[in-house]
Amino acid sequence: MRQNQRASITGIGSYLPGKVLTNYDLEKMVDTSDDWIIQRTGIKERRIVENGQITSDLATQASLKAMEDAGVYPHDLDMIITSTITPDHFFPSTSCFVQQKLGATRAGAFDILAACAGFIYAISVGQSFVNSGAMETVLVIGAECLSTITDFTDRTTCVLFGDGAGAVIIQKSSAKHEILSTSLAADGSQADVLIMPGGGAKTPASVESVQQRTHYIHFRGKEVFKLAINNITSMILETVNKNGLTIEDIDLIIPHQSNLRIIEATMEKLGLPMEKAFVNIDKYGNTSSASIPIAIDEARKEGRLSKGDLVMLVAFGGGLTWGSSVIRW
Ligand SMILES: CC(C)(COP(=O)(O)OP(=O)(O)OC[C@H]1O[C@@H](n2cnc3c(N)ncnc32)[C@H](O)[C@@H]1OP(=O)(O)O)[C@@H](O)C(=O)NCCC(=O)NCCS
Repeated sequence: MRQNQRASITGIGSYLPGKVLTNYDLEKMVDTSDDWIIQRTGIKERRIVENGQITSDLATQASLKAMEDAGVYPHDLDMIITSTITPDHFFPSTSCFVQQKLGATRAGAFDILAACAGFIYAISVGQSFVNSGAMETVLVIGAECLSTITDFTDRTTCVLFGDGAGAVIIQKSSAKHEILSTSLAADGSQADVLIMPGGGAKTPASVESVQQRTHYIHFRGKEVFKLAINNITSMILETVNKNGLTIEDIDLIIPHQSNLRIIEATMEKLGLPMEKAFVNIDKYGNTSSASIPIAIDEARKEGRLSKGDLVMLVAFGGGLTWGSSVIRW
């Protein structure tokens, strides 16, 4: 019976750490203001880990909720794929720690690194495993502790980022939310506009690399801003064409939450009202690959998704990488 079914999202969960870091808190740390941050980014507060919580902890909490939602047990999982730029360690993968924490002893486990577009890349891989018949049940996670790579002395970057996790279960189903297509893109020639320079093979950790503050997120904000709007807009239009749709057919766009002004400019370019975009950046800031699964979960809980709706997920980030996915809710 499962043969005619396609890969679908059968469970969703998210988890945000309890500690809230407001713009007012940041005013006490760097030369900034609540007004500036809201005007330029739309962010009011973000969540931050504390008490030793790490990425695999957030990922595990989100996964447990997604599994409960799908009615899936740890031994049902065939594969765990975590998208993150803040793994617990360079290696082994964060997915392996999640596998251990869930007790999902049958599951394979690996991570994907495609920065803020990583969750779309991970969904694409999970969808392919399931559609090919190679696997039945795949757990796809986006989880980040961006506070661990944020320079809280640099006002140009530290106001943007937060911590959190979201997860989905992908299985074949006709009753649930079918993944109609995913599209992925990259442009490595622009790698240096958004990068953590320190800690890899090119700049291994050293006293100098720490003194030069290379182990933090660095970006050229204005360049990223323009590239994000142009690439996201083009990808959305390509994706609707590819699916034989028009932009008006899309009921809800769930964009990566990078900056409210990026989302507003994209919607304007598409000629769509802001009501067709889901926004929660005011509460969580930019949580990189966690932002889309968290947003899907909240959109659903807020009643923004009805059966049959066409939903467009779209993300853009370091690499550069970008991607989109269309889901029939
Ligand atoms: C970072 C970002 C919010 C900056 O917004 P912007 O409108 O481009 O602001 P600018 O960088 O032009 O800065 C404007 C002024 O505000 C100042 N400023 C920067 N950060 C500030 C802060 N937190 N508080 C107060 N002032 C700040 C700048 O120093 C500058 O001052 P100047 O005019 O005297 O030189 C925006 O460019 C952005 O979101 N870019 C994308 C960032 C990114 O890479 N995100 C990850 C992608 S997934």
